[in-house]
Amino acid sequence: MKKIAVIGTGYVGLVSGTCFADSGNQVTCCDIDQLKIKGLTEGIMPIYEPGLKELVHKNVRKGSLKFSANISQEIKDAEVILIAVGTPMTSSGKADLTYVKQVAQSIGENLNSYKVIVTKSTVPVGTGKLIESVIREYDNGKHPFDVVSNPEFLREGTAIKDTMNMERAVIGATSEKAFQLIAEIHKPFTANIVKASLETAEIIKYAANAFLATKISFINDIANICERVGADVTEVSTGIGLDSRIGNKFLQAGVGFGGSCFPKDTAALLHISEDCGYDFKLIKAVIETNEGQRVQLVKKLLLALGSLQGKTISVLGLAFKPDTDDIRSSPALDIIPYLTEQGAIVKAFDPIAIVEAKKQIGYQCTYSEDIYETITDSDACMILTDWQDVKTLDLPLVKHLMKQPLIVDGRNLFELEMMKQLGFTYLSVGRPAIQSESNISKAI
Ligand code: UDX
Repeated sequence: MKKIAVIGTGYVGLVSGTCFADSGNQVTCCDIDQLKIKGLTEGIMPIYEPGLKELVHKNVRKGSLKFSANISQEIKDAEVILIAVGTPMTSSGKADLTYVKQVAQSIGENLNSYKVIVTKSTVPVGTGKLIESVIREYDNGKHPFDVVSNPEFLREGTAIKDTMNMERAVIGATSEKAFQLIAEIHKPFTANIVKASLETAEIIKYAANAFLATKISFINDIANICERVGADVTEVSTGIGLDSRIGNKFLQAGVGFGGSCFPKDTAALLHISEDCGYDFKLIKAVIETNEGQRVQLVKKLLLALGSLQGKTISVLGLAFKPDTDDIRSSPALDIIPYLTEQGAIVKAFDPIAIVEAKKQIGYQCTYSEDIYETITDSDACMILTDWQDVKTLDLPLVKHLMKQPLIVDGRNLFELEMMKQLGFTYLSVGRPAIQSESNISKAI
């Protein structure tokens, strides 16, 4: 059992802190945001994540998990300190390390015995060394400590499962002692341990996210070719994914990737490459293709309707993916403002992300948690998130409720043959367009 202080109660901090508590450690999750800590102490989760609330409650009751805004004291009491604060993207695309540096200063000011300082946040190469020098500066070199890079690979929506069943733990440590200590707290997760240098561990995180983003942009480019030659990208994905060297994951063509990681981390990796004098052409293309994917989808709608002026468009899905209320870099954030600028009346559906969406999109559209109410009387329906409610739509009812049966699907949710038989005009990604007999204003 180790005494662990986790600094930062965002996705990564809260989930990994809770999982380390559940696996036998004594964990305190800390944050400078007193309201957040108060909420957590009262059992209110700051994020929506399946299973998190239950696991937090279980470990609070067990006495293995607590919350605190007294960061200085928690640093003093801990053997292991996990830094899990945000590294937001600056306007230039670089990762902003302000919070990481503040935490390092605070650790330096409160160091009172040997401790292992672990970075969980995704940070540019060299940050581990920077943290080391900031701590040494504020501690005046009085106490021994080690720095470890232990990046997090959890996905939103499946974060608990991903942590409890992690495929690998990457540990880049400045000493064997620190490596062994961090390897030990990962034992209950039976993960493969990858031992690396600080810098290598930092690169592994960016390389993993950039590689997955590359797979998505690659299949989206293939989808765009498929549309031009009359092929079907879903069959291409199956055809290439059965080759175990390629693998079938992250080959779903669509409206492009969003979320808090892929857009930010691909931009940050581009900066890392520029800073070390390397022209990373591939990652530039990955970003460019991703931005273009949203435009491609809107173009299909424009072509089908001629003009959006006065047209009612129902948008299904505000979150960047299902099972989360996270709307960071979500396709809806770009697409809804564009539709309203073109004079469309937009009705948006999402089961849980409306509160978050309103903060960014505001009131240029109406919102509803009722999918059929959203679809009623619309001239077109755009699918942006593959929520279960969308996948299981009663399509004959949808056709009945819409002004005309036009669906532009950014997630390829429905079989083409079925949509044809139901009489929809159905425009998806990388698959042949299905056209209904009814009076769509312009030929597609
Ligand atoms: C990702 C990584 O998977 C995770 O390891 C890392 O720690 C954080 O970033 P997350 O952002 O939660 O996790 O979501 P993920 O499920 O990976 O999806 C990212 C985006 O890619 C979503 O917008 C999703 O819709 C899109 N995607 C995913 C596709 O467009 N096609 C696919 O085949 C897979």
